[in-house]
Amino acid sequence: MAEPIPTIESLLEHAKSVFREEFDSDADVAVAAPGRVNLIGEHTDYNDGFVMPMALPLVTIIVGRKVAGDVATIVTTNKDVDDPKKITVEMPNRNALVRTLEHSGPKWCLYVKGVIANYAGPCPPAFEAVVHTSVPTGGGLSSSAALEVATYTFLDALTGGNPQESLNDKALACQKAEHQYAGMPCGIMDQFISCMGQEGNALLIDCRHMTSQLVPLDDPQIVVLVTNSNVKHELTGSEYPTRRRHCQEAALILKKVSLRDANESDIDYLKSIETDETLLNRARHVITEIERTVQGAKALKEHNYQKFGQLMVESHNSLRDDYAVSCPELDSLVRLALEVDGTLGSRMTGGGFGGCTVTLVYANAVDKVIQHIRKNYKGTPTFYVCKPSPGARILQRPT
Ligand code: GLA
Repeated sequence: MAEPIPTIESLLEHAKSVFREEFDSDADVAVAAPGRVNLIGEHTDYNDGFVMPMALPLVTIIVGRKVAGDVATIVTTNKDVDDPKKITVEMPNRNALVRTLEHSGPKWCLYVKGVIANYAGPCPPAFEAVVHTSVPTGGGLSSSAALEVATYTFLDALTGGNPQESLNDKALACQKAEHQYAGMPCGIMDQFISCMGQEGNALLIDCRHMTSQLVPLDDPQIVVLVTNSNVKHELTGSEYPTRRRHCQEAALILKKVSLRDANESDIDYLKSIETDETLLNRARHVITEIERTVQGAKALKEHNYQKFGQLMVESHNSLRDDYAVSCPELDSLVRLALEVDGTLGSRMTGGGFGGCTVTLVYANAVDKVIQHIRKNYKGTPTFYVCKPSPGARILQRPT
């Protein structure tokens, strides 16, 4: 069986009771921001390409209240993050032109600090808050973006927000927080979908123009199965920035602004000038993946699930062979899912080297897929059957 997905109400209730224990008072603000699963378009966002994620019913909740003084206190209930679980943050000076916060403390709090520093609304007051989440930590479902976007939404709820600000601005500020405070040069996909997800829809995002289009995905016969491999290969940490750099180098050779501007004939050109094989492979993944994403959105709109599934498999193979970001566990999960009748497509999702796969499957076959994987996968996977869910929202405004 798949994991039960906790309701917002139950998460909220738990967060509020922890808040009461910790702070001896009641929280009067509550927000939620979701994690995401990417259906297709992997490692294309930082190449100005297309991506098509959906927001998950797995969310990060923040409850809290405004307090006097300059010090915010934040508690996380998450057992999977580093200690300490309770931190304090000296809030930026109201008159400061640039908000900078010390880059110190456990990793989870750097996301919170980064967002406070990059918050574009009215200067936030000090606060007490509890963070509670159902998004698995570091599992490739954007637990970081969910925390960033939840923090931003929490500050919006506390201050009343900035009416001039768009969801694009909000997503970009959260991305900047991650670049500056977590040192991860991520693209824009995760923050965008966490801000803009809509129930019953995937989102086709054009990462060059920062525009997006809803793609309905609400056919009751079709299910999105997320399988967490529960492995995370600790590589040097430089894999992601290295891939980014290789893409830029390939674009430079082709005299293009980015690989978004390249096409199949550019792959031939790279071959003809005997470009370094790694660079050629990386470029081929990105160029073909951008095209697959455009085709995938079209297929999904036409309810052509067979075609979409086939594109998912091609995407996985390209990530495995050309982009080299898969791992044996993810390959095995994809292979096992595809062995079951009723599976339309399956692929690794997110940055790679562990984390999750995403599988599109007929609803009446999903239990069979889960059983088959459980029986044959050499590890302990976790399964989530997910519907496209709403993006970040304020659940309760201050009284
Ligand atoms: C991580 C990044 C995203 C994106 C994916 C790969 O999740 O945060 O911006 O680049 O990897 O598609």
